[in-house]
Amino acid sequence: MTLVAPSILSADFAHLAEGVAMIENAGADMVHIDVMDGHFVPNLTIGPQVVADLRAGSSMFFDVHLMVERPEQLVRPFYQAGANLITVHAEACTHLHRVIHEIKDLGIQCGVALNPATPIEVLKYVVKDLDLVLIMSVNPGFAAQQFLSLAVDKIRDLRQMLEKTGSSAKIQIDGGINEHTGQEAVEAGVDILVAGSYIFKSADPGETVKLLKSL
Ligand code: DX5
Ligand code: ZN
Repeated sequence: MTLVAPSILSADFAHLAEGVAMIENAGADMVHIDVMDGHFVPNLTIGPQVVADLRAGSSMFFDVHLMVERPEQLVRPFYQAGANLITVHAEACTHLHRVIHEIKDLGIQCGVALNPATPIEVLKYVVKDLDLVLIMSVNPGFAAQQFLSLAVDKIRDLRQMLEKTGSSAKIQIDGGINEHTGQEAVEAGVDILVAGSYIFKSADPGETVKLLKSL
């Protein structure tokens, strides 16, 4: 079974807790929380206070995707808010190795995200330290963008790199995922599908979570 991480970026922000409860009831494996700062990406979304308030009403695994400049400044606030996994962008980290270990030293999981144009080779010396690699299949910033099929080759290459290096990192894909692109990604070796608009804008979001899990 494929793991599914619905992105609450496509939920109703006036009723976020209901969105989290809905995906929990549908059997989602984690909640994907897209944090955008208006600098690294041209959009502004969720801060630590919102995550803390959601945490108060949910025991789900919180997967926090930081699309921000200087992510090291936000690691501790999101950890304190209740993040279980923090993913930083390689492109945003001058000292990627240091940030990875700052996250791991808190006792939570650490992921690194790669934009579409970033080669997996940037992970060569850190991949064994990671719990997750996030392959972006859109240029980050907004929900409901078109899936970039270059991500499929990248997943295949990354799967080989993980095998060669003995890394146990999971592979996550994010952007433009639906049942067709999700299927392609799963066949290429992905472990976790992030999906936002496909789930939250569907007629029956709970059933859509189950459909993606069945891929
Ligand atoms: C993109 C975000 C994604 C996005 C996914 O910047 O990181 O998580 O919300 O949305 P969909 O599934 O609609 O492409
Ligand atoms: Zn995301």
